[in-house]
Amino acid sequence: MKSVLDFHKMKSQGSRISMVTCYDYTSARIVAASDVDCILVGDSLAMTMHGHETTLAATPELMALHVEAVRKGAANKFIVGDMPFLAHRAGLERTMEAVRIIMKAGAQAVKIEGIDGSEDTIRHIVQSGVPVMGHLGLTPQSIHQFGGFKVQGTGEHAAEMLLSQARRLEECGAFALVLECVPAEIAAHVTRHLEVPTIGIGAGRECSGQVLVMQDLLGLNIEFKPKFVRRYSDAFGLFKEAFDSFNADVKEGNFPAQEESY
Ligand code: KIV
Repeated sequence: MKSVLDFHKMKSQGSRISMVTCYDYTSARIVAASDVDCILVGDSLAMTMHGHETTLAATPELMALHVEAVRKGAANKFIVGDMPFLAHRAGLERTMEAVRIIMKAGAQAVKIEGIDGSEDTIRHIVQSGVPVMGHLGLTPQSIHQFGGFKVQGTGEHAAEMLLSQARRLEECGAFALVLECVPAEIAAHVTRHLEVPTIGIGAGRECSGQVLVMQDLLGLNIEFKPKFVRRYSDAFGLFKEAFDSFNADVKEGNFPAQEESY
């Protein structure tokens, strides 16, 4: 299993980090059998697993439930658990309780969106022995402040602002950070000026690694195809075909066969 030390090493050796989101035991077993470096149990599970329109519905308890399932399926992978909406903004005691349940469920690190106003909290979490992955750019928990899922970091001083946020995260002790939906040039600039690795999603080729949401990568989420998603499978089509074949076999009396019966 990878450790936080490997993230640093991989960046310094120029070897790219692959991360995929995962939310359940069965999928985790498949990721466990793959070469992917690490797993993010993202709060995107509010959308992918529970059908909400945003990530805001995720709670620490829900995150912990999914982390636990993924840990059981992927004992060999480094797992990052998302701190959900406002979980690190409601006082230190509640923050640490959320961190505690996510880590005790089996994560090796937590991911926190944003930095402004959260420096002391992030420092405290790191000093408590919990690795923190940062997340900048399009931070989906701030969707209502952004006014929608929009590329970030495009304004006049955006590059300096993003770099300053990234540097502050590094100073607070973050071991890596996700850059979401920022122009490739700006993500490259930030990556070059940091010691810690950046993991991009919609942030171009020059990040130290890449993350995709499992449902997007597998082609399960057919209504959603932003520019940055590459589909590596048509899982929706494959699954549908299997369901249709099952249905047809049942309707035609072809399932179960003799040898499938007691
Ligand atoms: O929750 C999530 O899936 C994420 C990724 C998009 C990075 O934060």
